[in-house]
Amino acid sequence: MPKSLVRKALDGFQPYIPGEQPPDAEGWVKLNTNESPLPPSPRVLQAIKDAANDALRLYPSPTAAPAREAIAGRFSLDPSQVVIGNGGDELIEMCFRAFAGAGDTVAYPTPTYPLLEPLCRIHEAEPSPHPTELPWELPPSLGPDPAPLKFIVNPNSPTGALFPTPAVEAAVAASSGLVAIDEAYVDFAPHSCLPLLERHQNVVLLRTFSKSYGLAGLRIGFALGPRDVIEALSSVKDSYNVDRLAIVGAVAAIEDEEHHRRLVDEVVNNRGELAGALAGMGFDLVPSATNFIFARPPKAAAGVVAALRERKILVRHYDREPIAGWIRITIGTRDQNERLLAALKEVL
Ligand SMILES: Cc1ncc(COP(=O)(O)O)c(C=O)c1O
Repeated sequence: MPKSLVRKALDGFQPYIPGEQPPDAEGWVKLNTNESPLPPSPRVLQAIKDAANDALRLYPSPTAAPAREAIAGRFSLDPSQVVIGNGGDELIEMCFRAFAGAGDTVAYPTPTYPLLEPLCRIHEAEPSPHPTELPWELPPSLGPDPAPLKFIVNPNSPTGALFPTPAVEAAVAASSGLVAIDEAYVDFAPHSCLPLLERHQNVVLLRTFSKSYGLAGLRIGFALGPRDVIEALSSVKDSYNVDRLAIVGAVAAIEDEEHHRRLVDEVVNNRGELAGALAGMGFDLVPSATNFIFARPPKAAAGVVAALRERKILVRHYDREPIAGWIRITIGTRDQNERLLAALKEVL
């Protein structure tokens, strides 16, 4: 397509580049996109198989009603306080559509989820970054920023650090606009910002089934918030944004809380073991509240990442300051973590 046909606002646009997704059959150890190393509940797989029938000729529920009700029940909320998205990413996009348009500012601490900056460009909004440095605390400048939309990824990515709830609450209380707290990784953390929903009307929590439910391939997430905020998000979403298989899968996932707990416990346990081993090899680590570890190797990060890649192990490297020396490693199975550690012993 000739470049001149594309909107002028997208001149020089740098899209978000997702982590590498090689074909499943190639046998990579994928520790680069924070997927679950463990499979989803067998009840989810059965529910999806059962739903793969003639009814697929019909559109799904526009509000993903069965999933909305199951999630509301799980969090003791009313369904009107829940909206379902095609993954957490779509919920972030819906926040832009509803709360920040051309000329508005969108504030967030950095480093954080690199999707936010390209979304600002797409919506012709102005990024208002609030830089943080080690130990990656929430910057006090964020609260007073007058932006109509703010994002706080908590626990944060790529750092894995959890901002304490009182600091997040202070930022919410000081904000005149909406604060979206992206809790994609919160199930691996000791606490969430859920109690803020009882005290603030300008906050929404974004969650996903991609990490702690092992369902990144299904593309489903949800937002929890005050009725007005949820109504605004629902009003701008695509009509049938979540398909029938994802809806039944999400319901089954919510209903199998025992599987969910087991998955989270195993990842948290493996995280402790991997962190100990990496520290023993001379890595600097950020204490992780997520399903990944942010670590600075004792040798140049780019070389370490390339050497791991030669051994068919993928990790994530953001080649820019202030995190250029760091890598982000998804927690794998015990076996995958051992393969990583054996490769690192050779490389270092
Ligand atoms: C911070 C953050 N938010 C949201 C997401 C979105 O996840 P999904 O769209 O798979 O639900 C991710 C995925 O990696 C993430 O890292």
